[in-house]
Amino acid sequence: MRTIVITGGTDGMGAALARHYLGAGDRVVVVGRSRAKFDALLTSATAARAEFIAADLSSVADGRRVVEHLRAGHERIDALVLAASFVRQRRHVTAEGHEASWVLFFVSKFVFVTGLAAQFGAAERPVVVNTAVPGARADAIDFDDLEMSEKFTFARSNAQQRRANELLGILAAEANPDLAYVTWGPARIVRSSFAGDVGTAMKVGAAVLGKLLGQRPDAAVRPVIGIIDAPSPGRAAFRGAKRRPLTIGAHDDKDAARLAAAVEDGR
Ligand SMILES: NC(=O)c1ccc[n+]([C@@H]2O[C@H](COP(=O)([O-])OP(=O)(O)OC[C@H]3O[C@@H](n4cnc5c(N)ncnc54)[C@H](OP(=O)(O)O)[C@@H]3O)[C@@H](O)[C@H]2O)c1
Repeated sequence: MRTIVITGGTDGMGAALARHYLGAGDRVVVVGRSRAKFDALLTSATAARAEFIAADLSSVADGRRVVEHLRAGHERIDALVLAASFVRQRRHVTAEGHEASWVLFFVSKFVFVTGLAAQFGAAERPVVVNTAVPGARADAIDFDDLEMSEKFTFARSNAQQRRANELLGILAAEANPDLAYVTWGPARIVRSSFAGDVGTAMKVGAAVLGKLLGQRPDAAVRPVIGIIDAPSPGRAAFRGAKRRPLTIGAHDDKDAARLAAAVEDGR
């Protein structure tokens, strides 16, 4: 029986994947905030193979606690899906003093991917699917101000975390060449819960676009299921079912190492 860990597995695409893998007979660990939403995913036939870990992944300490819990409870993890999402249009500082989106969309993912290396190492065909839309510019990271205390915009913050998540694949592949590490975004907008704190224009825009052009979460994640069920070792990027080129910058290895040093220093 495979063990599949899904952050943001209580809603949207994460929940669609949780439902699929519970139905397929796998063990599924859901990390999210709402136990009620987790309970709603279960049936009497699947509940025994499901585990819920309540966490706020915009907290560095909570992310580390979840990883410790997973390490203690699971010798092997076959697949990790990183799909927790809470879109903030404005800069928000957490009680820990960090910028919330940088932690939720990058630091917590770094903590999961690096902290679970031994669990991936014990799997025959380990795979990480990181739902960070690939294709951000190579120079999208502001190494002098990773938490964007100045010049924060939604667009800059979004591009930076997407680029950082592509570079995280370099660290993951270095640690385990057998690991498949995929940055993945849907082919088009998905009618999910759009969890977030955004202005009216973005809220209405997402709702209207979602209604007109949006895919259902269970349809959107079909390519992800294909990736998880037949993983190819190494880094890759996808939009929907289509492979996309990885962004190659002039200093990718150095940039990946700089990111790791910054997170490990708590910057
Ligand atoms: N929807 C789209 O069109 C679209 C487009 C491009 C990329 N993506 C990416 O695809 C992924 C999934 O998106 P989605 O739209 O399907 O998600 P969604 O429906 O908005 O669901 C978000 C999930 O993240 C969890 N979550 C939110 N804040 C959290 C926190 N602080 N700590 C832990 N968990 C938290 C939620 O948990 P609770 O429900 O328990 O609160 C929920 O399970 C995200 O990475 C998103 O950026 C989505």
